[in-house]
Amino acid sequence: MKLANLLALLISSILYATVKTEHSEKPQVQALMADWSPNGINSTEMTFYLAQIRSFIQGFQQGLYNNNSFKLSSACLQSSFVNPAIQVEDAFSAGNTFKILAVMSPMIQIAYNLQKSCNLNELIWMLLSVCEKGSCNSSTVVSNATKNLFSFTGSFNNIAESFTDSKKTSFTNLALISQQYNDIGVEFGKMLKLLTSFNRDKAVARKFY
Ligand SMILES: *[C@@H]1O[C@H](CO)[C@@H](O)[C@H](O)[C@H]1NC(C)=O
Ligand SMILES: *[C@@H]1O[C@H](CO)[C@@H](O)[C@H](O)[C@H]1NC(C)=O
Ligand SMILES: *[C@@H]1O[C@H](CO)[C@@H](O)[C@H](O)[C@H]1NC(C)=O
Ligand SMILES: *[C@@H]1O[C@H](CO)[C@@H](O)[C@H](O)[C@H]1NC(C)=O
Repeated sequence: MKLANLLALLISSILYATVKTEHSEKPQVQALMADWSPNGINSTEMTFYLAQIRSFIQGFQQGLYNNNSFKLSSACLQSSFVNPAIQVEDAFSAGNTFKILAVMSPMIQIAYNLQKSCNLNELIWMLLSVCEKGSCNSSTVVSNATKNLFSFTGSFNNIAESFTDSKKTSFTNLALISQQYNDIGVEFGKMLKLLTSFNRDKAVARKFY
C-alpha cells in the first residue's frame, strides 16, 4: 500500500471516529474499547455521517486554498458508499480482527474514493510538500500561531458554534449538516493556511505529487 493510501485511511478513520462519537454520550476512551454501536448503524445514520465527512473535507480545502468555490466531485463518498461504510463500521466497532480482514475490499474502495474523488491524494501531497520545504516546523508554526492568535480565537468560536448547532441537526437534514460541517472545515483549513503559509499555486507549481 502506498503512503498516500495509508494516510487517506488514517485520516478517514480519525474523521470517522470524531463524527461517530459526538452523537453518543459515551466518553471517547470507553467508546474505543467497547463496541460503540452494538446494533450497527442504519443507512439513514450512515448517510448523515458521510455527509459530515464529505462536507468537512470540502470546507477544509476551501479554507486552505482560500477559495469558496472549490467543490468536490459529486462522486466523493456518494450514496453507493453507504453500504460499504456500514460494513466497515460494523467490523471496526466490534474490534474483531477477522471481521476487519473481511472488510478489506470495501475499505480499499472507500480509501480509493477518498483519494481520487475527494481530492485527498492531491491535498496530502501538497501538505507534505509544504512541510518538506521547512515552512511547517514547530518553531515557525508556533511563531505564526502567536501572530495569528486573534484570528484563531475567531475560528475556534465559529467552530464551537457550528459544532453545537450540528448536534441538534436531525439525521434527515443533510443540507443543514453539510453546511455546518463545511463551515467547520473552512475554519480548520484557514488555520492550517495561516500556520504553514500554505499557497496552493506554489504547491501545484512544485509538482510534488
Ligand atoms: C435509523 O436511525 C435513526 C436515528 O437513530 C432512526 O430515527 C431511524 O428510524 C432509523 N431507521 C431505520 C430504518 O431503522
Ligand atoms: C477556485 O476553485 C474553482 C473550482 O475548483 C476554480 O475553477 C478556480 O480557478 C479557483 N480559483 C482560484 C482563485 O484558484
Ligand atoms: C524552520 O523553518 C524556518 C523557515 O523555513 C527556517 O528558517 C528554520 O531554520 C527552520 N527551523 C528548524 C529547526 O528546522
Ligand atoms: C508563517 O511563517 C512563515 C515562515 O516564517 C512566514 O514566511 C509566513 O509569512 C508566516 N505566515 C504568517 C501568516 O504570518
